[in-house]
Amino acid sequence: MLKGKKIAIIGAGNMAEAIVSGLLKKRLVNAGQICATDVDTQRLAHFRRIFKIRVSHDNHKAATSSDLVLLAIKPQVMNEVLGGLDLSRSGRRLIITVAAGVPIAAIISGLHPGTRVVRAMPNTPAVVLEGVTALARGPGVTAEQFTMAQAVFEAMGQVVVVDESHLDAVTGLSGGGPAYVYLFIEALADGGVKMGLSRAHAQLLAAQTVLGAAKMVIETKQHPGVLKDQVASPGGTTIAGLHRLEEGRLRGTVVSAVENATLRCQELRQQAIVSRESPADSSG
Ligand SMILES: NC(=O)c1ccc[n+]([C@@H]2O[C@H](COP(=O)([O-])OP(=O)(O)OC[C@H]3O[C@@H](n4cnc5c(N)ncnc54)[C@H](OP(=O)(O)O)[C@@H]3O)[C@@H](O)[C@H]2O)c1
Repeated sequence: MLKGKKIAIIGAGNMAEAIVSGLLKKRLVNAGQICATDVDTQRLAHFRRIFKIRVSHDNHKAATSSDLVLLAIKPQVMNEVLGGLDLSRSGRRLIITVAAGVPIAAIISGLHPGTRVVRAMPNTPAVVLEGVTALARGPGVTAEQFTMAQAVFEAMGQVVVVDESHLDAVTGLSGGGPAYVYLFIEALADGGVKMGLSRAHAQLLAAQTVLGAAKMVIETKQHPGVLKDQVASPGGTTIAGLHRLEEGRLRGTVVSAVENATLRCQELRQQAIVSRESPADSSG
């Protein structure tokens, strides 16, 4: 699917590193197909050293000589970067953006009408190729281009396809989700330490338990409630622990966490629209 395609990655940061690493490890592309750009010379040297890919400070040149342009810069610099790209004579190129909260329409209007854009919301476990990415397809993106975008993110984990209107909820769930799970792992390990386990043992037991339980859900395709019931025997230890979690409203709290993060994402997007429309007001 990506054979022979030239890929430009604009912004050689953490997300770009996860993506390039996945593409090369899964042998979907070879190093010669990728060019990464950044303003930071050290980041480029790092990419050249570990991936042996081409690097450049010139976003425009890298983008115009590629079939696929991946925008992996922070949302704050998106307008500046789009302003420096003139892709108007190359409408068939696919643009993929991972910038949180920047709508497909904003990318199109920052480039030129007819630009084909796929918007992605990945998460940090992509670094260990266990990420999950939600993809939203913009107008005019061909089936072949969309399959290409899916292949990029499948190289570093699982992919779901959603309507763009659901990306805020995805951000609230799987975007921030790793942080919620780290909190849970830390608390689980603290419980073990409180009951006399060494920190090292408690942390491994907690993290591997979360990993194993997640794999059980994905591989057996059983409802988590069914799997939970299989662990909790009548009058046993697990149901005693579950009782305490229910008293602490774990489930209601987690639902509220996703809701809160989603609402915050919507709020930040609204603020970004207001500051784009009236930059003078936003400084005051
Ligand atoms: N990390 C995540 O978990 C995650 C998850 C989902 C989505 N995302 C999205 O992914 C994007 C990148 O995030 P990240 O964590 O990888 O950020 P990052 O590590 O800060 O990477 C962005 C890179 O872009 C560089 N840059 C700044 N201005 C540039 C320009 N004009 N041209 C080329 N490169 C430029 C930055 O250099 P300087 O540092 O020198 O400015 C930095 O090296 C963001 O939009 C974020 O919303 C990230």
